[in-house]
Amino acid sequence: MGDVKDGEKVSLNDANWRQLNLPHDWSIEGAFSKDNPASPEGGALPGGIGWYRKTFIVPAASKSKLVYIDFDGVYQKSDVWINGHHLGFRPNGYISFRYELTPYLKFSGKNTIAVKVDNSAQPNSRWYSGSGIYRNVWLVTTNKIAIDHWGTYVTTPKVDKASALVHIETSIGTSGKPLKLKTSIYNQSGQLVKSEVSPVDASGDKTKVNQDIQIARPELWSVERPYLYKVVSQVLNGNSVTDTYTTPLGIRYFNFDVDKGFSLNGKPMKILGVCDHHDLGSLGAAVNTRALERQLQILKGMGVNGIRTSHNPPAPELLDLCDKMGFIVMDEAFDCWERGKAKYDYHLYFKEWHKRDLEDQLLRDRNHPSVFIWSIGNEIPQQSDTSALRLAPELAGIVHSLDKTRPITTANNDPGPRNKIIQSGALDLIGYNYSERDYPTFHDRYPGKKFIATETTSGLETRGHYDMPSDSVLRWPTARDWKTKAKMNDDFTVSAYDNVSPPWGSTHEETWKVMKKYDFLSGMFIWTGFDYLGEPTPYSWPARSSYFGIVDLAGFPKDVYYMYQSEWTNKTVLHIFPHWNWEPGKLIDVWAYYNHADEVELYLNGKSLGVKKKNGEDLHVMWRLKFEPGTLKAVSRKNGKVVLTKEIHTAGKPAKIELIADRKAIKADGRDLSFITVRILDKDGNVVPNADNLVNFKINGQGFIAGVDNGNETDHEPFKTSYRKAFNGLALAIVQAKEKAGTVSFTATSEGLKGATIVLQAK
Ligand code: GAL
Repeated sequence: MGDVKDGEKVSLNDANWRQLNLPHDWSIEGAFSKDNPASPEGGALPGGIGWYRKTFIVPAASKSKLVYIDFDGVYQKSDVWINGHHLGFRPNGYISFRYELTPYLKFSGKNTIAVKVDNSAQPNSRWYSGSGIYRNVWLVTTNKIAIDHWGTYVTTPKVDKASALVHIETSIGTSGKPLKLKTSIYNQSGQLVKSEVSPVDASGDKTKVNQDIQIARPELWSVERPYLYKVVSQVLNGNSVTDTYTTPLGIRYFNFDVDKGFSLNGKPMKILGVCDHHDLGSLGAAVNTRALERQLQILKGMGVNGIRTSHNPPAPELLDLCDKMGFIVMDEAFDCWERGKAKYDYHLYFKEWHKRDLEDQLLRDRNHPSVFIWSIGNEIPQQSDTSALRLAPELAGIVHSLDKTRPITTANNDPGPRNKIIQSGALDLIGYNYSERDYPTFHDRYPGKKFIATETTSGLETRGHYDMPSDSVLRWPTARDWKTKAKMNDDFTVSAYDNVSPPWGSTHEETWKVMKKYDFLSGMFIWTGFDYLGEPTPYSWPARSSYFGIVDLAGFPKDVYYMYQSEWTNKTVLHIFPHWNWEPGKLIDVWAYYNHADEVELYLNGKSLGVKKKNGEDLHVMWRLKFEPGTLKAVSRKNGKVVLTKEIHTAGKPAKIELIADRKAIKADGRDLSFITVRILDKDGNVVPNADNLVNFKINGQGFIAGVDNGNETDHEPFKTSYRKAFNGLALAIVQAKEKAGTVSFTATSEGLKGATIVLQAK
């Protein structure tokens, strides 16, 4: 990494440059240091300048075509050259953009693309951004007559059980020749449902075609059953198809009601969402579809049905997955407008670029059935400034000029009536960040308005760490009442009992109790689903990642995951914690999350400690008992019948390693991943809850280690290695497929422990 003089020149000798595959994030390969200019807030990893070059041959047959390069996202401030010609500069690190290459190409000769990425001006982010071409890049070749980039707009203006009206607007680059547009709708099994052929007015060099297609008895898209149709648009020049373009289609209707909250397809439901940043833990910002899918699967398992793309446009793959898996997305544009939060953040570019960036986000994302809300900003500093009276309506106008089918909101940390964004009247939904104690009186402040909790909670937990006692709530880093100074932990841990939050936040239970009580509260986006790199609240360095996740950075659920699972899913849940390795005689609080049962009885070494029932608003039950080693057993019962039984045993010394792969068969496509959980067990097979053994990995065959982790917020070992210390009994290794089919043999060893090997198939 580093700047390169004349890096764009074709003649530059790049023979000694490192060869790599995109997507790529160079920051995640670096070493943690509090002195990195990103600061712990930005993840404490290096930034700087990087150059990428690629040479490629364009066949002579492409002479009559148009050739483009599409970038899904480059962090940040990218300059792109083709054959020494500067194509453009794009400061926004999260936006997708295209350049046309045609006029500068050498057909049947060698062409050189050069990209400069400048992430040197720091700090420019309040969280880990990553650096480089961290999303996919596409070389796109079309005929001269073709559908524009992001050239379709598909809406469903009328939907009911009997039929759906699908409206398709298609933008086509024409050439004066008479053309036709054939638009076909296919169902999820690939069968043609209906098609429509329309003449294209080709008198100019661009034209828009509007079509309406009626579908009888449509299959509706929902979070439980995300049924997807496909719209295939074909431009016909005489008898030949000159372009084919595919757009996803989900048929659904929804409403935000002032009093009744959100409904989807006429059915009331709450949006049970989480906010997430874009990093993929030890993989960094480099996008990987399987890593995203795994995150979404873990969240689905807890009952999450909504995602907020905080605080920027996401990778397109995330929206594809949300379409397919059934998530309600709040698609967010900005973390600041003209006034910034970090010295070098987007506020430096907002004036010149906001219109272009917001339009491009809308054009790219507006066909995704999973997108339900546009957020034009998070905690915009100008909430308190009259400039918001001008800017909020301007931004809302840009959104509405491209999509009127979804409501607009902003995430407000001051959701009171003095907020100038709210005063401007530009918002369709009043977005609350935190302030959950004010939810019940929302309509006193905003009669006739619609509510969404754009951000909630910010609960703090370290997976597998427990402080006693657990029954008082702590506001860290400082107490809400400034007189009671909170004492934090010397080892930079936070107790996982869901009793710690920052002063502006609340515990998970505090928030959910309010949220579930009122119908008009249409939903919430919890801060956050996963821990993320950067913003290490409540500590700073040596912590370098957040404690906010319901799931840790490695993807291991914290206990509160099961509180949500017991409330948000139909799955039968009985989850007890903490672990059962303590000093004899110490008073330990045992919590249980449960559902589908009237009561839980707890036993220690066969002796009953009594039956507990959730009363009123309770979301858990608790026993306080003196520790003695042995077996803790919980039994949930309904009408006297056992529903579930759970046991925790006092673990002995670490004796062996266990490896559990989330998938043993992966695709040999160079991208697919297997996430291998490494557990440190005692001789009887119990996870040793405080084990921190150093584990060494070896891999042979058609795979490589893409990253290692353990969820510890203060671990400074690099992520791209072949070793990791366990943290509270667990570690993670991510195996990535090569491009050749075959077996992958993965071995873990550790001094004094019995090792383990797992064999994967790359197919
Ligand atoms: C919010 C903010 C988030 C994150 C969070 C931490 O105020 O919108 O980006 O900083 O606080 O609690």
